[in-house]
Amino acid sequence: MTFREILKMGDPRLLRIARPVTDFDTDALHLLVSDMFYTMQSVNGAGLAAPQIGEDWQVVIFGSDQINPRYPDAPVVPRTVLVNPVITPLGDEEVSDWEGCLSVPGLRGMVPRFSRIRYTGFDQYGDAIDRTVEGFHARVVQHECDHLIGKLYPMRIRDFSQFGYTEVLFPGLDAADD
Ligand code: NI
Repeated sequence: MTFREILKMGDPRLLRIARPVTDFDTDALHLLVSDMFYTMQSVNGAGLAAPQIGEDWQVVIFGSDQINPRYPDAPVVPRTVLVNPVITPLGDEEVSDWEGCLSVPGLRGMVPRFSRIRYTGFDQYGDAIDRTVEGFHARVVQHECDHLIGKLYPMRIRDFSQFGYTEVLFPGLDAADD
């Protein structure tokens, strides 16, 4: 388990289309997942995608089973490893809310996302995942999976009057790692 450097916006490795995983339940995949959890938890992230640590694979993790100090008002999302994800929006309804990203430190922006989605994929053992979710859970999945197609949340912002520094937008929030 190793802390891995998190790439920041501007690094071209964040713009790649990630490769699908073909071999499950391998030492390499388990090591990648454990490095990702260790790195994410070290900086209180809500989620992390493999490209953010320079690994060009379709692997994201999110959730914590407990309240995240960076998002104290957000509901708990189950701890999940999601490989080769596919997202299907359920309806056209969107909702906008604040997002941050470990690759865009110190900033938050208001980002529209689909309200309800179905997502499918696999865990690191190759077992199928198939969930229908809404709200913050749906937002986190859309944000993390965007990293697999080279999209960072600022690319999804429509109203740039709602994009700024966390310390200015949310004074007092414990965002030291942001
Ligand atoms: Ni992110």
